[in-house]
Amino acid sequence: MKSLRDRVVLITGASSGIGEATALRLAEHGCRLALVARNQAALDQVARQCTQRGAQTIIVPTDVAESEQCRRAVEQTAAAFGKLDIVVNAAGLSMRAYFDGSDLAAMERVMRVNFFGTLYMTHFALPHVQRTKGSLVAVSSMTGKRATPAYALYGASKFAIHGLYEALHIELKHDGVHVGVVAPAFVDTPLRLRALGADGQPATERPPDQFRVWPVAKCVDCIIDVIVKRRREALLPWFAGPFLILDQILDRRLGDRILDRRFPPELERKRH
Ligand SMILES: NC(=O)c1ccc[n+]([C@@H]2O[C@H](COP(=O)([O-])OP(=O)(O)OC[C@H]3O[C@@H](n4cnc5c(N)ncnc54)[C@H](OP(=O)(O)O)[C@@H]3O)[C@@H](O)[C@H]2O)c1
Repeated sequence: MKSLRDRVVLITGASSGIGEATALRLAEHGCRLALVARNQAALDQVARQCTQRGAQTIIVPTDVAESEQCRRAVEQTAAAFGKLDIVVNAAGLSMRAYFDGSDLAAMERVMRVNFFGTLYMTHFALPHVQRTKGSLVAVSSMTGKRATPAYALYGASKFAIHGLYEALHIELKHDGVHVGVVAPAFVDTPLRLRALGADGQPATERPPDQFRVWPVAKCVDCIIDVIVKRRREALLPWFAGPFLILDQILDRRLGDRILDRRFPPELERKRH
């Protein structure tokens, strides 16, 4: 188990939700922080709270869908603190829509933010994290473990993250680099209010919660656990693990039926 004190952490999606809560927790652990997202005013506010908790903090306004901006975010972090130990990729954009009728540009946008944003940041951070034998962590989703109707594209972007990070977990072990993924079910953040619909616009009303919504602090617990114990994966809730095994044993037939009932076409199409 490694202490987090004085570790330099770059967090994407730090202006809201899981990224913001992770930044505040890591500030309490004595980390030095680079906060990354697009909304500068929100980043300033989170940075102030991190500083109040005693953490040296910089903000680097960045669109993670742009590779050049990711390169600059990593360089500015390393220049400010002299090293980079840990990257937490929490920036993300949800899309809740049946694939049939979904706007192509919106689907490309979700893939760019969720998958390529993680890929770019990982690519540019890697030499630094190899030097410090640090950690690369991605916040995926339960939809990246189990295909879910109405989340086909969002889930595909998260499956892609699992594919990338599982391979890197094996490849980078030889360099002493830890690679881990956190896959939460629904978490209580503004994500679902901002989720794109089939037309590529955020839905006008909050979608119903088909499953239990977990407090953001539980998700942060998982992220900290993955970093400190250098685990390859954490699920929220943990008991999703046995369910996923059972689902496989039953050839996914029961799981398909449950999900089909929770996200039926009548409900999903009515929302737009
Ligand atoms: N909440 C859930 O139920 C849930 C469940 C499973 C997985 N997740 C995953 O958890 C991660 C965090 O989501 P959240 O729930 O905390 O949602 P959130 O509160 O909406 O936060 C999303 C964050 O991503 C940032 N972001 C979005 N597009 C960006 C871009 N192009 N460039 C840079 N930053 C960008 C946003 O900042 P700006 O708008 O300032 O750029 C914001 O800080 C996401 O990857 C999400 O897929 C969430």
